[in-house]
Amino acid sequence: MNKAEQQIAETIEVFEQVAAGYDNPSLRFFPFCGDRISMHLQLKRGQKVLDIATGTGAALVAAAQMVGPQGRVQAIDLAENMLDRAEHNLRVNGLNNADFHLMDATKLDFKSAYFDAVICSFGLFFLPDMSVALKEWYRVLKPGGRLIFTSFSANAFQPQAKMFMEDIEAADVSVDDPGWQRLNNEDACRNILQQAGFDNVQLLQEQLGYHLNDEQGWRDIILNSGLRAIFNRLPIEKQDDFLRRHLEKIASLKTDKGIWLDVEVLFSSGQRPTVDTK
Ligand SMILES: C[S@@+](CC[C@H](N)C(=O)[O-])C[C@H]1O[C@@H](n2cnc3c(N)ncnc32)[C@H](O)[C@@H]1O
Repeated sequence: MNKAEQQIAETIEVFEQVAAGYDNPSLRFFPFCGDRISMHLQLKRGQKVLDIATGTGAALVAAAQMVGPQGRVQAIDLAENMLDRAEHNLRVNGLNNADFHLMDATKLDFKSAYFDAVICSFGLFFLPDMSVALKEWYRVLKPGGRLIFTSFSANAFQPQAKMFMEDIEAADVSVDDPGWQRLNNEDACRNILQQAGFDNVQLLQEQLGYHLNDEQGWRDIILNSGLRAIFNRLPIEKQDDFLRRHLEKIASLKTDKGIWLDVEVLFSSGQRPTVDTK
């Protein structure tokens, strides 16, 4: 396995592991964001939408609701447990206008110029080669169709994320730059869209944060999100002790409202030109 394949395998392994707890209320920014995506895209009845890295369907459910029974959403992910939860979440919302596929975001098995819109919420920064993925997403969009992806801004999850990284490093676990920081500013997002040939690039930043009741809410986030991949690098016998000490520090952030969780999100969108210049 080369480094990129290893990175993908680690990502998928962790999402298989966290799928059961991913819809935990402490992580409710995912469905909040999913709703905002469909609003920003102004999806219309009858449209065909692709949701890439659908996870448990946070963006999918909102998109399926907006395109209605005449429309359809194709949802793809590489973690089967996430896809199973997405299918469940679609059904409990009384919807059935989506199909689920175990498929790699960089190798789409769909016709060219097929979708009215492509969505990828908090998935692009996991991909080793983001530019290759964007070219593939451009290919499946109809001319005039829109892509939107979300990423976390540099402030998101601070100061908790920085405290987590410091504590992990103090426990002798080496961490590379976390993947979610790769698209943490407007310039990075704009450049990657323009380089892939998208037009009408638009960037929007929104604060989707809220107060967690206490430090256990931050524990939920570590154990049920992509952060779990970093946590898993601790030897098992050290994990409980690490969490206890780390959460003691997080508890010091608590005010009478709880612990503020900053979730500043970047919404980046672009359009496949109606006349292809590529
Ligand atoms: C942070 S979750 C986001 C899920 C969902 N879009 C949301 O907003 O809640 C990232 C998802 O990307 C998926 N993923 C990572 N690499 C992928 C790849 N190469 N192809 C397809 N899905 C991938 C993971 O399995 C996981 O479900």
